[in-house]
Amino acid sequence: MNFVQVLNKKKQGLELTTEEINYFATEYAKGTIPDYQASALLMAICIKGLNEREILDLTQAYVSTGDKYMLENVKGYKVDKHSTGGVGDKTSLVYGPICASYGLKVCKMSGRGLAQTGGTIDKLETFPGMTTELSDKAFQDVINKTNMSIIQQTSNIVLADKKIYALRDVTGTVDSIGLITASIMSKKLVLNNDGLVIDCKVGKGAFMKDLKEAKELSNYMIKIGKMAGRDIAIMLTNMNTPLGKAIGNAIEVKEAYDTLLGNGPDDLNELCATAAAISLVQGGIFKDFKTAEKDVLTKLKNGDFVKPFKEFVEAQGGDFSVIENYDKNFTTKNKIEIKADKDGFIEYIDANEMGLLAMELGAGRKTKEDTLDLAAGIYLEKQTGDAVKKGDVLFTLYSNKVIDYKSEISDKLFTINKTKPNSKIILDILQ
Ligand code: URA
Repeated sequence: MNFVQVLNKKKQGLELTTEEINYFATEYAKGTIPDYQASALLMAICIKGLNEREILDLTQAYVSTGDKYMLENVKGYKVDKHSTGGVGDKTSLVYGPICASYGLKVCKMSGRGLAQTGGTIDKLETFPGMTTELSDKAFQDVINKTNMSIIQQTSNIVLADKKIYALRDVTGTVDSIGLITASIMSKKLVLNNDGLVIDCKVGKGAFMKDLKEAKELSNYMIKIGKMAGRDIAIMLTNMNTPLGKAIGNAIEVKEAYDTLLGNGPDDLNELCATAAAISLVQGGIFKDFKTAEKDVLTKLKNGDFVKPFKEFVEAQGGDFSVIENYDKNFTTKNKIEIKADKDGFIEYIDANEMGLLAMELGAGRKTKEDTLDLAAGIYLEKQTGDAVKKGDVLFTLYSNKVIDYKSEISDKLFTINKTKPNSKIILDILQ
């Protein structure tokens, strides 16, 4: 196939054939299409889009580039939750232990950070010794032991997405509905789960900036999920402002741990309880959502869910004590406090700007080769809607780099205003 002709077709906005889409995914996975040609096609797709048939074809083509995990030895209702990507999003680390403690089997594959957003696999590397590269058998063994496991994509699982995801991250080609649908759903379909909850983020820090785009993405994901026999629900959630108070890697794991101990911020508690309640109803543990959510929130506040988190981390070889002794293990050379210059309410904290700032501090990658500073990040002492007084610390930056914070901190990061804004976390639930 002449790949330059394929590039030219998409550049003109023409529909690609199933054969052309298969060729792109399989040959790029094999390494026969160079990065520069793949990047050109990805950019053309971002600009011209993919139609429904092309998205389905791309999803199936991705799936065909690796093995499937049939999970035949895992008995019980198997669930998974995935986020389309957000800033401060440590939901999986809270959702997983909640579902596991009710007896659901959490069988999850996660990704690394992408653009301004963080990734669960990077966060889990906070635990020394933790391995997320598990064979099919080891994955099932961990689930059978602790009701929960999280793995990463190895080269034999959806290889095309693994390689294209990394390329999109550094070529400005993430925010395409078609590419996001294929990337997420291919990773969901290779695991033979029963129930699936997708947290579709909407707003400044998300890839979908408004509800219309988010609903379009959600509808494609629902269609593909149902075609594959999954009980699928999509939560549309607010990502104008970061989720919770911590942004980074170890700092987010610490916040997830604190949340499981019963000391989480309200927005994170609500989002995790909603996601878990959906799965618990899907799995038949509760008959209705409201009862499930109430039970989860009560137990979450009591700190009842921390044990399954520890068991899961230890079953995958991680040293859990690092997070129990966070202050000793995650220090940075530089710590800068940013203070309020007037009284008022936090009108908004811009999730996108905060994600980019966290990346500058060392918590995210700018090139494929970058290594992360696990201790780098941001802690928001105040969240959207909080009252502040002049001189209060708004947020603290942690980094091992020298931070030229005056040039990094701009008016775009946050605003303080006289009136308390209305902000809700769950915008809608689609099924
Ligand atoms: N998460 C994914 O797995 N893929 C995307 O493209 C975006 C978010």
